[in-house]
Amino acid sequence: MYTPDLVKKLQHETSQWLAGKKMHGPVETLRDLLRFHEYRYYVQNDPLISDFEYDTLYKQLEQYEKEHPGSVTPDSPTQRVGKGLIKDFPKVQHLVPMLSLDNSYNADDLLDFDRKARELSGLDSIEYCVEPKFDGASISLIYEHDLLSRGATRGDGEIGDEITPNIKQIRSVPLSAKFSDYGIDQVEIRGEVLMTKNNFKAYNDALMEEGLPPLANPRNAAAGSLRIKDTAEVGRRNLEAFLYHVSYVSTGKKPSVPETHSAMLEMLWNVGFRSPKKEMKVLKGIDAVIGHVQEFEKQRDDLGYEIDGMVIKVNDLKLQDKLGMTSHHPRWAVAFKFKARQGTSKLLSVEYQVGRTGAVTPVAKIEPVQVGGVTVSSISIHNEDYIREKDLKLGDTILIERSGDVIPQIVKSFAELRTGAEKKIKFPTHCPVCDSELYKPADEAVWRCVNINCPAQIVEGIIHFVSKDAMDIRSFGEANVRRFYELGFLKDIPGVYTLPWDEIRKMDGFGEKSIAKLQQAIEDSKKQPLHRVIYALGIRYVGETTAKTLANAVEHLLQFTDYSEEQLQQLEDVGVKVAKTVYEFFHNKNNIQLLRELEKRGVQLNNEKKNLATGGNLSGQTFLFTGTLAKLKRSAAEELVEQNGGSILSGVSAKLNYLVVGEDAGSKLEKAKKIATIKIITEDDFLKLLG
Ligand code: IVH
Repeated sequence: MYTPDLVKKLQHETSQWLAGKKMHGPVETLRDLLRFHEYRYYVQNDPLISDFEYDTLYKQLEQYEKEHPGSVTPDSPTQRVGKGLIKDFPKVQHLVPMLSLDNSYNADDLLDFDRKARELSGLDSIEYCVEPKFDGASISLIYEHDLLSRGATRGDGEIGDEITPNIKQIRSVPLSAKFSDYGIDQVEIRGEVLMTKNNFKAYNDALMEEGLPPLANPRNAAAGSLRIKDTAEVGRRNLEAFLYHVSYVSTGKKPSVPETHSAMLEMLWNVGFRSPKKEMKVLKGIDAVIGHVQEFEKQRDDLGYEIDGMVIKVNDLKLQDKLGMTSHHPRWAVAFKFKARQGTSKLLSVEYQVGRTGAVTPVAKIEPVQVGGVTVSSISIHNEDYIREKDLKLGDTILIERSGDVIPQIVKSFAELRTGAEKKIKFPTHCPVCDSELYKPADEAVWRCVNINCPAQIVEGIIHFVSKDAMDIRSFGEANVRRFYELGFLKDIPGVYTLPWDEIRKMDGFGEKSIAKLQQAIEDSKKQPLHRVIYALGIRYVGETTAKTLANAVEHLLQFTDYSEEQLQQLEDVGVKVAKTVYEFFHNKNNIQLLRELEKRGVQLNNEKKNLATGGNLSGQTFLFTGTLAKLKRSAAEELVEQNGGSILSGVSAKLNYLVVGEDAGSKLEKAKKIATIKIITEDDFLKLLG
């Protein structure tokens, strides 16, 4: 238990080690320090030292253990490191079967649950402990004599898969925990492994960038990650674990095992677990419980992870025993399920959309269904492989899910509900817009229309050009681009600057006021900074960050015609893939012609800002932000970097100087830790750098 005095002592010890004064102190104190800082970081979310300082301590321990291999203990912080591949997950029996929970959906269900519990117990009012129902993959852990001895999946409830090496990759699961302080020799505990919303989004973004289909929800991501056979990869997924139930204890002499569930959660917290101690609430009587769960549902989206309800547990453990279980669920607990973010629907037809890069995306039209408060009637089904993997057929009944702020996904199709009338989805061989033959490189999952004159690509390209993050021509919008294109008023990107206003004036919905507004917005866009122009061009793989790097490299955009692929790769954050597409773009005469046209019509291709920003506090330094910042918005922080002469990279690489870490930092942090030259700093450190 980390009391304030102990924390002070450990912090003092930390400084001593970091100052090199204790380089030869007893190695177990160094391990204790590392365990303490892991706990502060991963369990309490409140680190006391920087990542760099943690790494310094960790390296000292690694070095010591290398020189004294006999000294390594099974719960040494170095023993999390994944070694090689797991062959198979052995089957193991849980000490106590992992039962499921009965569900409730409204106040009446809860009143019912409470009435039965009161009848069985003979009490007038019952004390409950209410906690979140974590939406992840359930696990069971065994600790023997304070050491983690086994981690397993739920399996069928009786028998699960042993996944101990993967469990050790979860930093919020301690390798040892002082259950002995409570007189406990052996304990089996239950919990849920989660992927935070931020990590899930980053993980899905990375999949999609590779042209791979995203996962439907963080629960599937967590469950899948636990069964990966490459342990090191499990570590990279940044999983978290909440432990919420003690299912078995065996005690030695003088046991002092808690007598309520809430005290159990306190105990788990005290010995080093991320239990829902802070999220739980002890309430007397079911009315208070009903009020609380309804209130908590409103905060669901503010949490960094997904929950699908609350669990209401009788707090007194003796009373729990008295109430007992059915064969399926305990009578002392019930799950209160929040409004579903899943729904079933029917896959009616598939339409194919051609994007600005020519990528053909199948979009399923489905029977409209309410999912988490919005009506979903069409849903991307990504690519041909995805259709095959999910075994989708026209006419299928499908399960839809909308997790947090992620776009809706198909979870699965119900093959067992097929009638035989379902039809195979046939991917087109030709572009649905211009009818050119589609093409798919062997190593990609996406079919493309490669006709550069394909109307769909032109229109999508113009829509992107005028969009908010690009040239930001506010009142233009997608609908006007399509309308003007169909009427022949707008044929290409430069055409944005030579619209036939006399014709447009004659159209419905275009009064003098709206025309003046649109004209002004178009005029204003000519002065957009160069990085916006670059981004607006829609060069493949050039996002907003890369566009800024490119803009900072030149005084005039056409200077890129003199750059070789190798020279482009010298730029911070520009890898082989980006260099190739940028090189190709600036060596295509149609594109050069387009740029000259734009310039002729007044669009600024000069880099006005260049040189202005050099000499700032951050001059020449590269930055990347990860996690949620507390004081600044991410976009504002990035702008500050640029205003002070620094630049933003889009990923972690050896070219990065600073990684600024906010809350719930994900894989970028893990990656950065492996590159010694990157300085990992907090938001406050960053503000100090700015002066
Ligand atoms: S208690 C014997 N508490 O929900 C009772 N379960 O639908 C053990 N779950 O199988 C379960 N959060 O995987 C409990 N705070 C929580 C939970 C929780 C999520 C999961 C668990 C269980 C499932 C039942």
